[in-house]
Amino acid sequence: MNTDHSEIPRLVKLITNLVVSLLGIVLLGAATVIVLYVKPDFFQRAFTASEKSIKELVPEKPSYWTAPDVTTIPSGALGKEILYGKELIAHTSDYLGPKGKILQISNGMNCQNCHLEAGTKPFGNNYSAVASTYPKFRARSGSEETVEKRVNDCFERSLNGEPLAEDSKEMKAIVAYIKWLGTDVKKGEVPKGAGLVELPFLNRPADPLKGKILYEEKCTVCHGKSGEGIKNGDGSAWSFPPLWGKESYNDGAGLFRLSRFAGYIKSNMPLGATVDEPQLSDEEAWDLAAYVNSMERPSKDITKDWPDISKKPLDHPFGPFTDGFDETQHKYGPFLPIQEKRKELVKKNR
Ligand code: HEC
Ligand code: HEC
Repeated sequence: MNTDHSEIPRLVKLITNLVVSLLGIVLLGAATVIVLYVKPDFFQRAFTASEKSIKELVPEKPSYWTAPDVTTIPSGALGKEILYGKELIAHTSDYLGPKGKILQISNGMNCQNCHLEAGTKPFGNNYSAVASTYPKFRARSGSEETVEKRVNDCFERSLNGEPLAEDSKEMKAIVAYIKWLGTDVKKGEVPKGAGLVELPFLNRPADPLKGKILYEEKCTVCHGKSGEGIKNGDGSAWSFPPLWGKESYNDGAGLFRLSRFAGYIKSNMPLGATVDEPQLSDEEAWDLAAYVNSMERPSKDITKDWPDISKKPLDHPFGPFTDGFDETQHKYGPFLPIQEKRKELVKKNR
């Protein structure tokens, strides 16, 4: 009997403990249900957040488009055509320059001077998105453009020359090569690393005077004090192409727009720079672009360009414009106020 009496308080304690624990479990369960009800992705978010911070610690190397392997060039007539096209991109001047063996229709530069590694370098102005996105409407001409038309744009502007006949052996070869480069790219797709990098705008005008100092420090050694370039031993081609003067691209060319020039040099110049290992800051790239594009160069009649003037790019430096900003600001920036104004105008005209 004695033992019975002492068992009772122990039993009461046990039951109390049990009830408290059960209550705890029920409350925890209820809390979870409430949290999940209010924020269904609460636990998932906490989990992915920790996963994300691991990813940030070990940044993934971006993988860019790479050109198909040359061993996959078909044999036979098509293969020969593709290889001839590649040769024309790399050594344009030998065939079509001032002393070209086929025709004399361009300024001595090679397509490859700007479309690096025969148009295959990531953010080196490569051709990866051409086959997949052309023909396409371009506001500069106000028309649907084929690859042939786009190639001739560069002949007439970047190479300050004459267009190639669309049915010529040379044009067919260039187009065959560019299309072969895009073999693995789906229609409409723009692969990572295509074209040029887009640099953020500065909140001040790009400064040619700052650019001049940088130019003398970083570019003169190859491109010459007066941007005149350096020819090879027998003077038949450029070892280092010119950046301004009469043998350079004209003022209708893509590189004459500050954003194109700055984007090009950011990930490619001085020679050896890449998108992952640039050698210029964004500011330096913009200021260098301002300096080089403030110097003399051939002029192109572009009065027929941009039939819809409201479609001119922010950094197209020739008026008239619909946004009220002058040619100087359209050339050197700051571009953000122009961008804001354009947005307002679009909203108003809707
Ligand atoms: C002085 C520099 C320069 C030279 C030389 C040059 N180009 Fe270009 N090319 C450009 C620039 C800049 C663009 C526009 C890039 C952009 O807006 O992103 C361009 C664009 C193109 C495009 C369209 C690319 C696209 O993805 O839409 C093609 C095709 C092209 N060039 C072909 C050629 C061919 C062929 C030659 C030689 C006959 C040539 N280019 C020579 C600077 C040059
Ligand atoms: C070590 C030599 C070297 C230096 C330094 C160098 N470049 Fe170049 N640059 C080249 C070569 C070579 C090419 C042509 C690439 C090719 O054909 O493969 C080129 C091409 C260019 C082009 C396109 C073609 C043209 O003539 O319009 C521009 C623009 C350019 N460089 C700007 C610059 C600027 C700006 C600097 C200074 C920040 C610079 N480069 C420094 C060697 C150099």
